[in-house]
Amino acid sequence: IERTLSIIKPDATKRNLTGKINAKFEEAGLRIAAQKRIKLSPEQAGKFYEVHKDRPFYGELVEFMASEPVVVQVLEGESAIAKNREVMGATNPADAAEGTIRKEFALSVGENSVHGSDAPETAAQEIAFFFSGLELVG
Ligand code: GTP
Ligand code: MG
Repeated sequence: IERTLSIIKPDATKRNLTGKINAKFEEAGLRIAAQKRIKLSPEQAGKFYEVHKDRPFYGELVEFMASEPVVVQVLEGESAIAKNREVMGATNPADAAEGTIRKEFALSVGENSVHGSDAPETAAQEIAFFFSGLELVG
């Protein structure tokens, strides 16, 4: 069984889409193993997205992620990392496949409704960034 870190981003929490997005995860066979709604400070958002710090959109991305509350969650299941990214769809909603979260809900390449870890190492790091061992049942 695999775990991945998912974030329902400000554009989606603002439009009250948490339940609809969670339904997509559950329909795809992913279990929501842990979940909380938090508001990131610009410093926390900047640290989370540090890998992108040299990209031209970094400032905009950090400001967006700290603009409204987000829902951070651990999704669990068989091949959870790949499965989650499949359900999310392409980064740019214009390229996202029919039925994916980003196709249905994302507003733009920046305000694209969800984040999902991209590999086992980043999943482990990102889960530890937001959740303590006590918050995760075995
Ligand atoms: P994440 O799951 O959020 O990491 O998305 P991703 O892996 O599909 O995309 P990537 O890691 O390349 O980029 C991280 C995030 O930066 C994206 O999800 C977008 O929110 C944002 N981003 C990427 N490209 C652009 C861009 O050209 N403009 C803006 N404003 N934001 C971007
Ligand atoms: Mg990414």
